[in-house]
Amino acid sequence: MILIDQIKENARKNKQRIILPESYEERTLKAADHILQDGTAEIILLGKPQDIQKQAASLGLKNIGKATLIDPLTNEKRETYANMMTELRKAKGLTLDQALKQLDNPLYFATVMIKYGDADGEVAGADNATGDVLRPAFQYVKTMPGISVVSGAFLMFLKDKEYGDNGLMIFADCAVHPNPTDHELAEIAIATAKTTRSIAQIEPRIAMLSFSTKGSASHEMVDKVVNATRIAREMSPDIKIDGELQADAAIVASIGLKKAPGSEIAGKANVLIFPSLESGNICYKLVQRLGHAEAIGPVLQGMAAPINDLSRGCSVEDIVDLVAITANQAIGIK
Ligand code: ACO
Repeated sequence: MILIDQIKENARKNKQRIILPESYEERTLKAADHILQDGTAEIILLGKPQDIQKQAASLGLKNIGKATLIDPLTNEKRETYANMMTELRKAKGLTLDQALKQLDNPLYFATVMIKYGDADGEVAGADNATGDVLRPAFQYVKTMPGISVVSGAFLMFLKDKEYGDNGLMIFADCAVHPNPTDHELAEIAIATAKTTRSIAQIEPRIAMLSFSTKGSASHEMVDKVVNATRIAREMSPDIKIDGELQADAAIVASIGLKKAPGSEIAGKANVLIFPSLESGNICYKLVQRLGHAEAIGPVLQGMAAPINDLSRGCSVEDIVDLVAITANQAIGIK
């Protein structure tokens, strides 16, 4: 069974309540229909129920009737949610009126529902920019204990099966945090180790990437990666991690042996942690396009509840897959 089928099977066994706030969006509605038929999750759609039903009918979708439809503008829990929001954002001076206005936005309504315990996860971004999906989550759901920074990992299914674990590698951060400090980079490595175990279902061997291998260059950007490796080892002594390593030393056995002799990671890495979002985002897209790899994600990690962001160019299948991954993350957190 291939990995995504295993993830879907696991989601079916322990159904989670996943919100799709962009219910007016065609691919999202088609994905919801597919998921409801397949039984990988309970689906909550946000919007005017009659509008959602009308659009579903015009698309010939037969299963939307099984979804829970909630109108954020008229829902009876608005006041309750707004009170919780003002309490959570007391230090920021959020007023009840401001909270109620935020709840008009389905992206805010979804994260607040999750925070209140009325849903288990969210997938959005088919029609909204990453920042707009993430900001409400950062403000209300926040990070899990011990982690201060959210990041995004990609499962990269490579054509060349000699790399990673039979062609599967995990790349991070490719989606969220532009310029992490050494401590934040260490947290990203640890969060990625968790994702690798829980979603990719393989044991992580983490390379902390740089343009230098074991002191071949000296620069403050290299120091950041060296420090991050040390901090990650201190924070989580059980993980296999090494750095700083260049990409070739991380993944090619003969080069790893030459540039970093004695390293248990060099030449064998299945997880690549990039020193900045710039490098991570550019690399995953190049490997996807030039290397014809299949990229699943970004799987957002470090959040207290699973909220995942789609690319605006996503397909129906991408949404279906990410809902199954989100459900698995929710199961893992519980
Ligand atoms: N993890 C956890 N919390 C965070 C993070 C993070 N990575 N970044 C910001 N926050 C929190 C802040 O602490 C703050 O919390 P507070 O209001 O309680 O004090 C809140 O989020 C807002 O912080 P800002 O600094 O105002 O964040 P801003 O909204 O400016 O930026 C954002 C956050 C949108 C995620 C920004 O970092 C960003 O744009 N990142 C790049 C996203 C992107 O475009 N990725 C590439 C495309 S994705 C793809 O290609 C797959």
